[in-house]
Amino acid sequence: MLKLILFGPPSAGKGTQAQRLSKKYGIPQIATGDLLRAAVAKKTPLGMKIGSYLDSGRLCPDDLIVQLMFDRISKSDCANGYIMDGFPRTMGQVEELDKVTEIDLVLNIVVELEALVERAVGRRICGECAAVYHVKFSPPKAEGVCDECGSALVQRDDDKEHTVRNRLRIYTEETAPLVEHFRRKGNIIDIDGSAGIDGVFDQMVEAIERREG
Ligand code: AP5
Repeated sequence: MLKLILFGPPSAGKGTQAQRLSKKYGIPQIATGDLLRAAVAKKTPLGMKIGSYLDSGRLCPDDLIVQLMFDRISKSDCANGYIMDGFPRTMGQVEELDKVTEIDLVLNIVVELEALVERAVGRRICGECAAVYHVKFSPPKAEGVCDECGSALVQRDDDKEHTVRNRLRIYTEETAPLVEHFRRKGNIIDIDGSAGIDGVFDQMVEAIERREG
């Protein structure tokens, strides 16, 4: 059983690393952002409401997110653990999580602000399978085409620079304070997110194996 949280600011590399860790440890990545974008794509009334939060970079309401997350972790593929990517992000969310389970390890990706803006603005994602690329740091083999499934790559609507800066401000105000909560619980490890994608992955694997061993 391995229950992880990948924590850190927008575009720190949570999704990139969660996809790799998911393959290595055989446990699912649960990305709140991907779940929300899937709801928006269905164009249901709830999806339209969620879309207005995503487009502006504001956080969605806690009750909606907590319900979405708890429904997901109750599924059978989570029986041996999971990787939370993008949850929790508020004190309200972490308090609800603490009521239902104990997380083994929080991997806190630390990256300086201007590097985050460059990562977000250059990000491209697969519209079908949600694989993540970067025009400079992690380009696909053929420009604009997903290596995994061959679908077209797109830029997320919230990766325009002014929305990215808004998301970073909201992270600093509402999400970063959770680090102190995890430090009190003693289950958080800082990861140097300025290393390349492989370097960050190696640090995470080492932290997980040290914890397990
Ligand atoms: P979400 O989709 O979770 O966005 P985020 O947290 O802002 O995180 P990102 O997806 O931007 O980045 P990431 O850290 O996964 O980085 P990635 O690996 O892609 O949430 C979107 C929205 O949904 C929120 O704004 C909010 O409205 C809502 N929401 C979601 N969860 C919520 C919650 N719990 N409560 C309320 N609302 C919620 O990497 C970024 C780029 O950098 C990529 O191009 C990648 O190739 C590149 N890269 C990655 N690592 C490296 C590296 N080491 N070196 C160089 N480049 C790298």
